[in-house]
Amino acid sequence: MSVSLPLAHCEIRSWRAGDADSVARYANNRKIWMNLRDAFPHPYTVQDARDFIRSLRNRTPETTFAIAVNGEAAGSVGFVLRHDVERVSAEIGYWLAEPFWGRGIATEALGAMTSYAIATHNLTRVYALPFAWNGPSCRVLEKNGYVLEARLRRSAIKDGVITDQLQYAFIVPDTAVTADDLPPRETRG
Ligand SMILES: CC(C)(COP(=O)(O)OP(=O)(O)OC[C@H]1O[C@@H](n2cnc3c(N)ncnc32)[C@H](O)[C@@H]1OP(=O)(O)O)[C@@H](O)C(=O)NCCC(=O)NCCS
Repeated sequence: MSVSLPLAHCEIRSWRAGDADSVARYANNRKIWMNLRDAFPHPYTVQDARDFIRSLRNRTPETTFAIAVNGEAAGSVGFVLRHDVERVSAEIGYWLAEPFWGRGIATEALGAMTSYAIATHNLTRVYALPFAWNGPSCRVLEKNGYVLEARLRRSAIKDGVITDQLQYAFIVPDTAVTADDLPPRETRG
């Protein structure tokens, strides 16, 4: 079953085989690659895009989606579910094609994907690990209620440079009522 989340400025939807050309065109950008894991290829070819889309086919649950702008796949947003005792957590990631930067599209997509991940997988925590130099990504996270928890010093290497990562998390509050939440019992005099 394909997913579609229509939003004000974009649509989050399942990837389609026909997305390969647009995705390769937009993903082949060093400014994008510089802010993602090395598993994201550079240069990024149409064959890379085809392999990526094919790898998602039949993968259940579906956790990686296209960000479509004006009907065209112009980015990606997805999450990795953690396992075992961390099965209430997921790491979220995203990128958007450069021509569409600065319009609030990633902010909108991240917010919708965070809600979708939490609701679909009963999560209590969604987190992201932008490189410390990635101001725009930190801003997108903060605008969606993610809170800076830690600076993971010298935890990654990108393009030959050791860098810090910033750990941001969106926490689903514990709604269970505890004794401390209850009003004090009335005492009779
Ligand atoms: C990060 C990214 C997804 C942002 O997409 P976007 O659609 O332009 O983001 P938005 O328009 O929703 O918001 C960007 C915010 O960053 C702010 N910003 C821009 N440059 C900035 C900078 N150098 N430092 C801090 N904030 C900055 C913008 O002003 C805006 O905030 P505002 O609404 O308060 O003004 C996009 O730049 C991208 O794909 N980058 C490469 C991949 C990447 O970094 N992915 C995330 C990996 S953790």
